[in-house]
Amino acid sequence: MTGDKTTHFGCEQVGWVEKVRRVGAVFDSVADKYDVMNDVMSFGVHRVWKRFAIELSGVHKGSRVLDLAGGTGDLAARLARMAGADGEVVLADINGAMLERGRARLLDQGIAGTVRFVQANAECLPFPDNHFDCVTIAFGLRNVTDKDAALRSMYRVLKPGGRLLVLEFSKPTLPGLAPLYDLYSFKLLPLMGKLIANDAESYR
Ligand SMILES: C[S@@+](CC[C@H](N)C(=O)[O-])C[C@H]1O[C@@H](n2cnc3c(N)ncnc32)[C@H](O)[C@@H]1O
Repeated sequence: MTGDKTTHFGCEQVGWVEKVRRVGAVFDSVADKYDVMNDVMSFGVHRVWKRFAIELSGVHKGSRVLDLAGGTGDLAARLARMAGADGEVVLADINGAMLERGRARLLDQGIAGTVRFVQANAECLPFPDNHFDCVTIAFGLRNVTDKDAALRSMYRVLKPGGRLLVLEFSKPTLPGLAPLYDLYSFKLLPLMGKLIANDAESYR
């Protein structure tokens, strides 16, 4: 039964079903402005984090890779270049609007043909056991309602010895940084969302 279970949605505690609904609504709403907002909100630094993660992936020509919660395809695009024509790169996301946006971007970059787009929930992946050399999930795990189920599902589709890369935010550990980070998160982000995407709520 999932009816009584609660989880976090931002700073709120909500029921599981409500979280799925809200996460879906956020990404339906932000899909069109998602990439520009990423650049603005992180001052472009998300590109460095993603490059760093990819460097740890061990992906090479012929690798089979799943970019989960892949959204608009930043990681999948890089991974597709690394895996080459003999490899397999799957971009999976639960949200149709984000997948559409990702497909359009990768088409523009001339690499959509080498990536398979699959609408899927991380909690019950529709892929065979022991299939992928690498699974990546960037800024996606926090959006998943049943994280244990998702991690089990990722483990199942990874080959023995395969690699899982989880790129995610954490809590500031530098002394004095926490108040600045809170100011940025609670005040600046919604303001940027309002000004650029006309949607403060999704960035709260
Ligand atoms: C913040 S975006 C990250 C997109 C991309 N990985 C990036 O780093 O730019 C989070 C993505 O997670 C997806 N997502 C949320 N819950 C999911 C789930 N249960 N299964 C698969 N994808 C999910 C959303 O639809 C959204 O595209």
